[in-house]
Amino acid sequence: MHLFTTIAELRSFLAQQPQSIGFVPTMGALHEGHLQLIRKARAENERVVCSIFVNPIQFNNADDLARYPRTLEQDSALLEAAGCDVIFAPSAEEMYPSAPVMTFDFGPLERVLEGAFRPGHFNGVGIVVSKLFHLVQPTRAYFGQKDLQQCLIVRRLINDLSFPIELIIAPTVREADGLAMSSRNRNLTDEERALAPFIQAELQKAKAALEAGLTVPQVKAELLNAFAGQSAFSLEYFEIADTENLLPLEEYEAGQAAALCLAAHLGKVRLIDNVLLNV
Ligand code: PAJ
Repeated sequence: MHLFTTIAELRSFLAQQPQSIGFVPTMGALHEGHLQLIRKARAENERVVCSIFVNPIQFNNADDLARYPRTLEQDSALLEAAGCDVIFAPSAEEMYPSAPVMTFDFGPLERVLEGAFRPGHFNGVGIVVSKLFHLVQPTRAYFGQKDLQQCLIVRRLINDLSFPIELIIAPTVREADGLAMSSRNRNLTDEERALAPFIQAELQKAKAALEAGLTVPQVKAELLNAFAGQSAFSLEYFEIADTENLLPLEEYEAGQAAALCLAAHLGKVRLIDNVLLNV
């Protein structure tokens, strides 16, 4: 496995590689959610590249950026075992010799859910993912359903800018108790960690309620009520959304596709999760 920290090294190595390239962009602090993407990329491509870069311009909260775990040594060992060929771990100066002035506007898709609560976040994701796509020039790029809105943003990016890249989306990997794996879970206290599966449990209840015929307002009210009774959590949003554009659904018909998306703060950690219906 190779570890490159400069664009020049990465480019000259990749220029000698005519094979198909599977690319997994990450911010490190790797867990099974990331590693399944690496294994899938390994199975479907001749070369596998993983980037590890805590992208400062996608953080809209300085504390969140400062607290983001950085574990390159451990990550390298995990990537090697999962069959990764190249790690690209640039510094912020390498990626942004000067602050980018260009901005992305993804339209209505970025004004809902994460986009509404994290202004500038998807602009930062759009810039870094575009740069990485240009540098790595992958055949296929692998993303996780855990960040559903990010998947749709990347799909737009690929379509609108004609990147010749196949987007592959893999399911959310969870802990045994249902909590979606996340690098930020490491920042939970033991007490918070024990409470965290509540998020997935409530999403499952909401899904079952919708399937049982309750209306969108009724399902939302039940979930809001459940969170109101759990003082450790502060619910940021819960939406029942269209799976194509993530705009909120006012009504739900049996058999219709829907995405149930939620963000909540638990102590100092912000957690997101989603479940899909009929997809
Ligand atoms: P990061 O949070 O490190 O996630 C990297 C990839 O792993 C993303 O595609 C994410 O959806 C996926 N992933 C994370 N947890 C997962 C889980 N439990 N199950 C399945 N997939 C999971 O997302 C980012 O980094 C950044 O925004 C990035 C795309 C690298 C741009 O900076």
